[in-house]
Amino acid sequence: MEGRILELAPAKLNLILDVLGKRPDGYHELETVMQSVDLRDEVYITLTDRPGIKVDISRDDLPRDLHNLAGKAAQVFLSYVNLPDQGVEVYINKRIPDKAGLAGGSSDAAAVIRGLDALLDTGLCETELLDISGRVGSDVPFCLLGGTRLCRGCGEIMTELPELPDCSIVIVKPDFSVSTPELFAALDSKRVLRRPDTGGFLKALNARELTGLGPYTVNVFEEVLPEDLGRRVQDIKDALLAAGALGASMTGTGSAVFGIFESTVRPAGLSGFGDVFFVKPLKSGE
Ligand code: C5P
Repeated sequence: MEGRILELAPAKLNLILDVLGKRPDGYHELETVMQSVDLRDEVYITLTDRPGIKVDISRDDLPRDLHNLAGKAAQVFLSYVNLPDQGVEVYINKRIPDKAGLAGGSSDAAAVIRGLDALLDTGLCETELLDISGRVGSDVPFCLLGGTRLCRGCGEIMTELPELPDCSIVIVKPDFSVSTPELFAALDSKRVLRRPDTGGFLKALNARELTGLGPYTVNVFEEVLPEDLGRRVQDIKDALLAAGALGASMTGTGSAVFGIFESTVRPAGLSGFGDVFFVKPLKSGE
């Protein structure tokens, strides 16, 4: 079969992020509200008559082929629908910064799953597409659906939430990255003093109170960052709050930091901290 499709792959933010404990399988139980935003990669998916999966990307420093999560997504999808000889070419025009906690790779993978589903006209239901997504990576099920969702387990147990009230979001990506496994391990050995209040966040979201949400945007990983990096994240948060953000937090295991604003802003002086993106929340994963 042949055909070509463009899928958009939005970044996600963790508006609030808590880790409830370590499971017997070594993974950690999460409680987080994820939000899609309109910072998007473009993912072109092409069916070819040459068996094999090829992934190319607009940045030289990012992995290609099956080392890229988008390639793994194609592989898992084709095996699930029993089409191992179908050729697939993926080209990713990258806009979402990597090593940021913005799920760029997971969103590209979800875009491949959506795209292959449409091109191959598989007739798979949402539950099956989520099953495929979960086999590819923890954040992929959320990225498949997008919007505003409470995510538990490793992120795959999702509850749809009321959409975030209209707002503007500023994301700052500093030039350092943080090791995800090291941050999870640090949580196991340190007592966290300031825990996120997910119940309070959900109450404010249900009340459609943007201003009330601000103080609840807390990420448990910030407290276990190496000291120098923690200071840099705090400096960015302070700058966002000084510019009028209602709340500011790191997303995922970093290193991107975001601030939520009531109206469109272009605060000056943030570029000294890293790359700056001005985004809006999305209602779905595209
Ligand atoms: O999901 P990702 O592949 O980025 O996770 C990297 C590492 O983070 C895992 O190998 C695991 O050590 C840790 N992790 C965890 N619990 C989760 C997600 C990730 O312990 N829910």
